Amino acid sequence: MPNISMRAKETPSSPIRKLAPLCVQAEQAGKTVYRLNIGQPDLATPQSFMDGVRKSTIEVLSYSPSQGLPETLLSLCRYYAEHDIKLTEDEIIITIGGSEAFMFAMKAVMDPGDEVIIPEPFYPNYRGYARLVDVTVVPITTYAEDGFHLPPPVEMEKKITSRTKAILFSNPGNPTGVTYSEKELAHFVYLAEKYDLFLISDEVYREFVYDGAHMSILAFDSVSDRTILVDSISKRISACGARIGMVASHNREVMEALLKMAQGRLSPPTFGQLGLNSFLSSPYNRTEVAAMIEQFHRRRDTVYSEISDIPGIVCKKPEGAFYLFPKLPIDDSEDFARWLLAEFDDKGETVMIAPGSGFYHTPGKGSDEIRLAYVLDEDVLVRAIEVFRCGLAEYQKLRSPLKTIYR
Ligand SMILES: Cc1ncc(COP(=O)(O)O)c(C=O)c1O
Repeated sequence: MPNISMRAKETPSSPIRKLAPLCVQAEQAGKTVYRLNIGQPDLATPQSFMDGVRKSTIEVLSYSPSQGLPETLLSLCRYYAEHDIKLTEDEIIITIGGSEAFMFAMKAVMDPGDEVIIPEPFYPNYRGYARLVDVTVVPITTYAEDGFHLPPPVEMEKKITSRTKAILFSNPGNPTGVTYSEKELAHFVYLAEKYDLFLISDEVYREFVYDGAHMSILAFDSVSDRTILVDSISKRISACGARIGMVASHNREVMEALLKMAQGRLSPPTFGQLGLNSFLSSPYNRTEVAAMIEQFHRRRDTVYSEISDIPGIVCKKPEGAFYLFPKLPIDDSEDFARWLLAEFDDKGETVMIAPGSGFYHTPGKGSDEIRLAYVLDEDVLVRAIEVFRCGLAEYQKLRSPLKTIYR
């Protein structure tokens, strides 16, 4: 049998989903599992979005234009204008989720062998995709003690080589919830100008900011020809299954390259675009999003207060997204995550968490960290963190100093 490619072999599997079989076994054994591992919003998708799909009168489900439906592009321009971002219709391409948007962006500006700087811990699919296109990831490590904010520019500068082509970051961040200040973004801008780099800013959580305001990379006029915005409605309006994202830039050459890629995959999903258009045309759209943000804000406060009460945990309050990335007083969070599912329960209940190491590029990092997603109702979250606290205490007693591995 012929071999599959090295690329395919070396593409890492999702750290968020790899414990799924243990979760299924736990549930089959009758346990309730609180899923704190996955960033899938639980809130209802707005009615106006659903109406756009349900009330559609199209008879032939044809390809939409590769760039997206004109009316949806226009609605998006209005949306961005309301958020102080000036984009014209020819500066936006609708993609199959934010996933396709960042893949297109990376492919449009980088060749095999080029290097991309990414603050770690980061969204694991960046690494998977970088491997698929033979781009080398150069991480800038950030730390729980600093709330995962960026190191000083001199530290970042040390990572730049003649092969560095771009800096990629998510803001607000998955998995940490960190939201960069204007000053931090200005550091990226400074480096991009000094070393002739592209800045790819993944802003799929752009409206989920609870302390202070979010600043888009597109707000920096001096680098408008070297910035690419990645965006998505998956999280923003709880529409992960619509598979609608966007990639946008003021750079014409970049847009032409992106459009060729968009044409290569023919078209983005028609129903998702109709839904989005209907949602953005609804007079209630901003109030609906505001209500979602309010709910996540309360959840953030609740989870943070419960987590920071647990002895030995290092966790600064994350400013945005819907994740916490606490550092725990253990040394193998993957073993802990498996043990929680396979061995532990508190009154028949346990939790599923995402081990931290899969969010790092640097080997060995993250083995004492985990990602928690707060995508459950507040009262459920309170109970889930209580179960987590019991599990952590029991695991610490069991595992120190002996260690059994459940694999
Ligand atoms: C930072 C970040 N970017 C992009 C995505 C991709 O989202 P989608 O393809 O559903 O828009 C995610 C999903 O979790 C994410 O967390």
